[in-house]
Amino acid sequence: MILFESFTIKGLRLKNRITMAPLFLGYANPDGTPSPLLIDHYQEMASSGVAMVVVENIAVDVLGMGWPFMLRADDDRFIEGLSRVSKAIRGNGALAFAQINHTGRYAYGTERVAPSSVRTGEVVPRELTRDEIEGVIDSYAKAAKRIKEAGFDGVEIHGGTGYLLVQFLSPRTNHRTDEYGGDLANRMRFPLRVVEAVMDAVGQDFPVGYRFLADEMLPDGLQLEETRAYAGELVKRGVAYLSVMVGTYDSFYLPEYKEMEREQGYMVKFAHEVKAAVPATPVIAAGRIQTPEFASNIIEKGEADLIGLARVLFADPLWPKKARGEIKEPIVACEPTCSLCMQRIMKGKPAYCSQWSKERREVFSKKIGEER
Ligand SMILES: Cc1cc2nc3c(=O)[nH]c(=O)nc-3n(C[C@H](O)[C@H](O)[C@H](O)COP(=O)(O)O)c2cc1C
Repeated sequence: MILFESFTIKGLRLKNRITMAPLFLGYANPDGTPSPLLIDHYQEMASSGVAMVVVENIAVDVLGMGWPFMLRADDDRFIEGLSRVSKAIRGNGALAFAQINHTGRYAYGTERVAPSSVRTGEVVPRELTRDEIEGVIDSYAKAAKRIKEAGFDGVEIHGGTGYLLVQFLSPRTNHRTDEYGGDLANRMRFPLRVVEAVMDAVGQDFPVGYRFLADEMLPDGLQLEETRAYAGELVKRGVAYLSVMVGTYDSFYLPEYKEMEREQGYMVKFAHEVKAAVPATPVIAAGRIQTPEFASNIIEKGEADLIGLARVLFADPLWPKKARGEIKEPIVACEPTCSLCMQRIMKGKPAYCSQWSKERREVFSKKIGEER
């Protein structure tokens, strides 16, 4: 099966085509360090047999935190904890990448910053000044350097889910009249400067991947025509891979998104479009990739090079071993009509999966009971 053939990203060998896509579960300590629960979780994800684990979004700046229980990389004091996370993954046979993020207008605090003052729920974020923009770019660069110092194999810049980089790219949320707003060339300026600063900070040999938003799935939002052009610019700067997703918190809850999201492989056609725009760059496809046959087909057809499993792997950490036939039991599927993991993190509670066995659920309850 092609799914179990190796692949190379910037000189790094992936033992197969299966990666864990970033999945924030609210397991970090309130001070931004990893809890024993979080370390256990990443150990298990790495030992599942995936080639590479991308650790959930990690804050580059306190103002950019989306939740209180989020890992942080905004200070050198977080390097030690992050190195325990990289060890938990690398020590269990997978490459370790870490995703860095600033959530901008989707931050959880009431003081929020964004390209423009576009309301989100009850809060109107404050427009970043040009000096502050320089500071945020520097925060990304410093956070990426800390990820490298913490022993990760690579860093992933979060350019998805409608967070800060998308807020600059999108005409919906960027109404600026300076050099960071207006036409696509100006709206791309901030995210491209972030990419360049991160690459300068970590050096040419350290892989920098990018979580790529192909479409906001909103009538007045970013669409493929612009994002494909943006993909070309990212590739010119040397990103190691593009991990494709669609939608933002402004579209996730729309009935049409919810319906689309129930389908197996609901984001694959977007990954394929991006792959066609930048054929020489590795592309990761995610989005309810439930069966190994379906996953292999994506790669065989050249729609993407790698598969990203997020909730799918959380629901069944034995997915890769079952796919390979090492364990002869059916894969436990992520339930398409369930959103328990998302609901839990939105309530500030550590996530679990409705499909877990009673025993697994009991072990989890015991662990969180002990910690929080
Ligand atoms: C609870 C939850 C947390 C997520 N956290 C992240 C994250 O930290 N970074 C990111 O890029 N995507 C995140 N995602 C998106 C996933 O990486 C993935 O693209 C999406 O869930 C589709 O794949 P799946 O069907 O295998 O879950 C998250 C999704 C969910 C449901």
